[in-house]
Amino acid sequence: MIFIRREILFKIQQLVWRTCRMYQAKGNITGQQYLKNSLQSYQFASNLQFNERINDLKEKGQKIFHLGFGQSPFPVPTHAEQVLKENAGRAEYFPVKGILELRKAIIDFHAKQDGLHQFTQENCVVGPGSKELIFLLMSVIGGDVLLLSPTWTTYKPQAVLSNHKVFIIPTSYDEHWKLTPAMIEKVYSENTIKENSLLIFCNPDNPTGSSYTKDELIALGSEMRKRKMLVLSDEIYGRLSFNDNHLSLAQFYPEGTILSCGISKWASCGGWRLGYHLYPSHLKDICNVVAGAASNTYTSASAPIQLAAVSLLKYDERSQNYVKHCKRILHTVATFCCKKLSSCGVKVHSPSSGYYIFPDFEVIRAQLKKRGITTGTGMCDALLEEAGIALMSGGPAYLHPLDQLTVRLCYINFDGTKALKASEAIGLGEHLPESFVETECSETYQAINLLHNWVEKQKKL
Ligand SMILES: Cc1ncc(COP(=O)(O)O)c(C=O)c1O
Repeated sequence: MIFIRREILFKIQQLVWRTCRMYQAKGNITGQQYLKNSLQSYQFASNLQFNERINDLKEKGQKIFHLGFGQSPFPVPTHAEQVLKENAGRAEYFPVKGILELRKAIIDFHAKQDGLHQFTQENCVVGPGSKELIFLLMSVIGGDVLLLSPTWTTYKPQAVLSNHKVFIIPTSYDEHWKLTPAMIEKVYSENTIKENSLLIFCNPDNPTGSSYTKDELIALGSEMRKRKMLVLSDEIYGRLSFNDNHLSLAQFYPEGTILSCGISKWASCGGWRLGYHLYPSHLKDICNVVAGAASNTYTSASAPIQLAAVSLLKYDERSQNYVKHCKRILHTVATFCCKKLSSCGVKVHSPSSGYYIFPDFEVIRAQLKKRGITTGTGMCDALLEEAGIALMSGGPAYLHPLDQLTVRLCYINFDGTKALKASEAIGLGEHLPESFVETECSETYQAINLLHNWVEKQKKL
């Protein structure tokens, strides 16, 4: 009996092996056949891919001025680094939504800094980066996703991954790339958009550096209210507002705004991976389903990082002074870049926060055309080859047309540790001297001068 069973088993094994070998020989087993049709050509995040490509070239010895990646140049605030070191041994799983101490600090932080009093710790979710939380939110909502053009590179790929229909709202240079009530009106009147859709709003904006004024937010809030819109307001650059005048959409449209924020930008902790979302209490159902999704995917944000984040979000004098220095430096560098680029005819709006400008090189379109270059990507390839400047085209990756000669320029390729030290030595009572960019942020200074000269050279063609 046992003998027969073994024989049958052996025959089955033989059959399986033979079938596998036959499939392999024919090359029949492919990854593609297991993928969803909609994701057959799904790609790596364009900004991260670009960064890795440029870093590879740099490692191979190529001298490149990298103006294509949005990562803080500054060191992590020392007091937070210290707390992280002290808690390196904390290896337990923390509560899914985040430890209470951290959620309390977050609520307090936004109440004090943004005047937002509607949020409570119950409706706060901490995660491994706000990016992950945006994705989880998209994964649980039922409707479509509305995005601006241009916009940050990640939103659309996340919407595709979570199977949503995407509607694009074009903005324009003349309106500082900002959303207006008329644009909302237009997209709704020209399309059939589901009632339970989500608009992603980024303020201050990546990639354009624009921020919204009080009047603009009031007008948007009233249009959103009329339509009962659900809005994710991504305010990750809010604390870096150069003139300290960041205003949250959640002040003007509290009932429909989910606030997305984190420590990656103002506290230079991108690689720590900690972000959070705040939901108005009557949207707690969404919050709880997102937390459910979190519990079944990442469990909780890293324990030592949560403890270190408390020390940042308590926002004592050390955090505040750190931010004051960082944004003063960023403002000075941004002003220099805009002035220099405007002087050779490049169209650019001065940013009000963050790391980015979105210049338009229309001024050299005719000359580039003579060289056979008609797209932003073509222009960026030429810039890399001829001037050693790495810039990401502001085209399709930003949901912007291919033929636009816009780029997203990250003016943060300088040595932030050096610049921060120099700024601290000057003190907060003084202005930074005009020479600061040249002496303390020399990589950006050189890159922008090279870019300026390259444009001037094209103009003579
Ligand atoms: C507009 C915007 N939102 C969100 C994020 C993601 O930040 P986090 O590090 O919290 O995932 C980034 C990072 O580049 C960003 O630019």
